[in-house]
Amino acid sequence: MTFPELCVSLSVLWITPCISTHDGHHSEVRIKVNHIHMPFPTLQFPNPQINTMVKLVKDPSGTNIYAGSPQGLYIFKGDSGKLAPVHMPLFESDCHGKPNCEYIISVLDEGTNGNSLFMCWTGENVKKCCNVQNSNHKHVDCFIMETRVHIKEPSLHIGGMLFFTFSGVSDDQGSVGLYKYTNSSYTWPSSSDREQRYIKIIADRGSGSLKGKLYFLYIEKNTNPDPETPLWIPRVSQICMDDKGGVKNQLQFRWTSMLTARLFCGDAKKRISFTELLDVAVVETEHWNSTKIYALFRNEYNLSAICVYKMADIIYTFAKSKFIEKDEMPDSNLHRPGECVPGKNFPPNFLKFMENRPEMEDWVRPARDAVLISHHHQYTHLQVDHVEGKGTVLVIALESGRVHKVLEQDGEAFFIAEYQPFTSPTRVQSMLLDSLTKQLYVSSSSEVVRVELRNCSLYGTQCCSCVLARDPYCGWSTSSCLPAKKHSIQDLDGNCSVCQEPSKALLQDKPQNTPPTKIITEGSEVHLNCPALSHHASYTWYQGNRRRFCFSTRQGCLLVIANVSQEDQGTYRCLATENGQNLLLASYKLSINSGPCARATPLVSVCLLLLLSVIC
Ligand SMILES: *[C@@H]1O[C@H](CO)[C@@H](O)[C@H](O)[C@H]1NC(C)=O
Ligand SMILES: *[C@@H]1O[C@H](CO)[C@@H](O)[C@H](O)[C@H]1NC(C)=O
Ligand SMILES: *[C@@H]1O[C@H](CO)[C@@H](O)[C@H](O)[C@H]1NC(C)=O
Ligand SMILES: *[C@@H]1O[C@H](CO)[C@@H](O)[C@H](O)[C@H]1NC(C)=O
Ligand SMILES: *[C@@H]1O[C@H](CO)[C@@H](O)[C@H](O)[C@H]1NC(C)=O
Ligand SMILES: *[C@@H]1O[C@H](CO)[C@@H](O)[C@H](O)[C@H]1NC(C)=O
Repeated sequence: MTFPELCVSLSVLWITPCISTHDGHHSEVRIKVNHIHMPFPTLQFPNPQINTMVKLVKDPSGTNIYAGSPQGLYIFKGDSGKLAPVHMPLFESDCHGKPNCEYIISVLDEGTNGNSLFMCWTGENVKKCCNVQNSNHKHVDCFIMETRVHIKEPSLHIGGMLFFTFSGVSDDQGSVGLYKYTNSSYTWPSSSDREQRYIKIIADRGSGSLKGKLYFLYIEKNTNPDPETPLWIPRVSQICMDDKGGVKNQLQFRWTSMLTARLFCGDAKKRISFTELLDVAVVETEHWNSTKIYALFRNEYNLSAICVYKMADIIYTFAKSKFIEKDEMPDSNLHRPGECVPGKNFPPNFLKFMENRPEMEDWVRPARDAVLISHHHQYTHLQVDHVEGKGTVLVIALESGRVHKVLEQDGEAFFIAEYQPFTSPTRVQSMLLDSLTKQLYVSSSSEVVRVELRNCSLYGTQCCSCVLARDPYCGWSTSSCLPAKKHSIQDLDGNCSVCQEPSKALLQDKPQNTPPTKIITEGSEVHLNCPALSHHASYTWYQGNRRRFCFSTRQGCLLVIANVSQEDQGTYRCLATENGQNLLLASYKLSINSGPCARATPLVSVCLLLLLSVIC
């Protein structure tokens, strides 16, 4: 390396830490991972179409992941890492051998009745929905459906019923809202003149009860002209799945059971609220009641927050809250509006009440204050994985296409890692965390990337560095950081004292080896780097017990010994200090050879000193 090259490369190392502002450890991610650290299997679409939605869906009965856009369908074989265009006999039979037969995929969802996938598509002469079989991709349980749906809209296929939404503004072809299609008949939303954006449909899939209720989350443009009120209002509505609509001239084919409540996310004490709901992830539990709903919000100042709602609280609000429009309440001896009753023999005043889209007086509040309020990052997508007995992993995509992996414990967020799956900034279209394999799939309009979230080797080669990562997916086990198993060493508070527990003796670190010896020449220049395993740590080089100055870089801390002399001999150690604990990251023994010395001009140090005075 020539002097100017070296000077430039060192200045790059040097400038980065100079301009990055450290604002405490809570919002800075601990490690950053890109293509250089870890290969991300990637599928580039053959004909990337700008602004095309690419939706990701998991095969509920297997390990395959499907990536669909209106123009095509692709598959990630869970075990092979390959992503390939799927051969779909369904389109061929509809095309009757015609070449260039065009179709548009309008619905993509998890398969039902043991099938991999459920999808709807529109071709030249066909509008069809089918389940797709796993083994041969044959289509089964097909039906014809004549409705415009966009693949980006939330949908849910359950018990022979297809629920889907229409976002935006109502037009002459239909109203915004939730639709149901079953047995050749529709149930529609009542017309609305407000702009709405649908985020998620949630139903109790487990119970199999089709008499049950279904919930959907969305935002609605505020019509209040007061600039002090928010632009968007987040809402949750419920309907009875079995709702067949009212009678002629009164809610015929329209929901007769729909109730609406407002969601609150924010911090009442600090007077901040978040109203633009962006994404929702559901953590289902054995009991439907204790299901948790994680909702990602943004506010007018581009602050992000995540609020967690309990299903039980939503159910309770719809069952017990007063209605905003009290005066028009129908007879009290009738069933409560929103209760699921068979048939459609509703008295006119009941239907009239339901026609006005009844809203609850109480808002649905989160189980606790907002989990994460970020001033620095604009998030767009959310996935959640609850690790039993450990903690909750949140995976959140940023506007730039990067992804944060966060540990959530009792409302506290710890930023474990930032992944950079795309080589250049891009908007994430869809994100899917497979909680079985702990693999994350992220799609943009031109590619799908897979991120292995259980790559524990990134955390270093010592028990303490593995524990400090606070990653519920990883643990220390017989001399390496590995995907967590029952007995591996882990402490989600990042306390390394677990590494010394006598009961875990077998799993602990091997004793430290004597440091490697480096032979150096008097008058030469020596660089010792201390690898940066964590952005939360501070790094210090010691020669014996004497502290030596080092240059902080993104890669670590670089100790430069210019013009080596006799007193530079000795043992050097680099210690990282994190969470009040010290970790030995590097050690060397420097010893001077007695041969003729090749003196190097210590230009590098001059360059560094120059930079030091100029930049900082
Ligand atoms: C895990 O990370 C290591 C080190 O950064 C890398 O070499 C390896 O390829 C990664 N493994 C996977 C499956 O991504
Ligand atoms: C559809 O119709 C069939 C026959 O009329 C009936 O058995 C089935 O329960 C209906 N399905 C739904 C979801 O209503
Ligand atoms: C669900 O929660 C409601 C209200 O908290 C309670 O009344 C009901 O018994 C619970 N059901 C189950 C199955 O736990
Ligand atoms: C929020 O972000 C958007 C897009 O990233 C930008 O256009 C807008 O100006 C930002 N608003 C504020 C208040 O910073
Ligand atoms: C770590 O755990 C040990 C033993 O449980 C405790 O004494 C110590 O205070 C803890 N240290 C930190 C930094 O929490
Ligand atoms: C290197 O150190 C030696 C002895 O300490 C000194 O004589 C010499 O001038 C130094 N060289 C440079 C270029 O600083």
